[in-house]
Amino acid sequence: MEDFVDLKRSRRAVLKLSAASATTLLSSGAGAQESTSARNESEVRAPVLTGLSIEVNGKLEHLEVDTRTTLLDLLREHLEFTGTKKGCDHGQCGACTVIVNGRRINSCLTLAVMQQGASVTTIEGLGTPANLHPMQAAFVKHDGYQCGYCTPGQICSAVAVLDEIKHGVPSHVTADLTVHPRATPAELRESMSGNICRCGAYSNIAVAIAEVAGSRA
Ligand code: FES
Ligand code: FES
Repeated sequence: MEDFVDLKRSRRAVLKLSAASATTLLSSGAGAQESTSARNESEVRAPVLTGLSIEVNGKLEHLEVDTRTTLLDLLREHLEFTGTKKGCDHGQCGACTVIVNGRRINSCLTLAVMQQGASVTTIEGLGTPANLHPMQAAFVKHDGYQCGYCTPGQICSAVAVLDEIKHGVPSHVTADLTVHPRATPAELRESMSGNICRCGAYSNIAVAIAEVAGSRA
């Protein structure tokens, strides 16, 4: 009987010891995991900054930027060119269109650091209130807007479209790829189809662009 009691005691002692060891192991494991995830989190959150030189509207800028900054945010938040608008931030509306090295792009879809050394033109760089670009003047003349939110993107896009046509860049509706495309209403509509206007000012926008192009909408 005594032997049996001793055996029970020693079994209990072994079980207690095992439980204590397991708890210690678990808690030290959790602690290690916690400190690893805290370390990872701080590693993930640390912004990576890099030097950027970029010309915007004729002025060379040197900045230190977070590598995750889009060109759109660089223009609006860092350089205060707020004429360029953020609509969808997903490349779907065209409100953020600017001209980079002579070509129109959606500035929300490119990182600022990808434009190292580039030359960017925003709506502010096209003309001034006292000296409007012909496309800006045509939009005013033909009422090519209502709320105006899409307008800077529409105008930058329209300026670049006429340049594309001048350089023979065809669009999806160009019937004959062997001849130089012309600024027909269909060609202009297709080329401007990436610029959405929620106010539906399309007919006046088309008239304005056609006038600058020297064609009829
Ligand atoms: Fe860039 Fe809409 S904000 S396409
Ligand atoms: Fe309002 Fe185009 S004028 S979205």
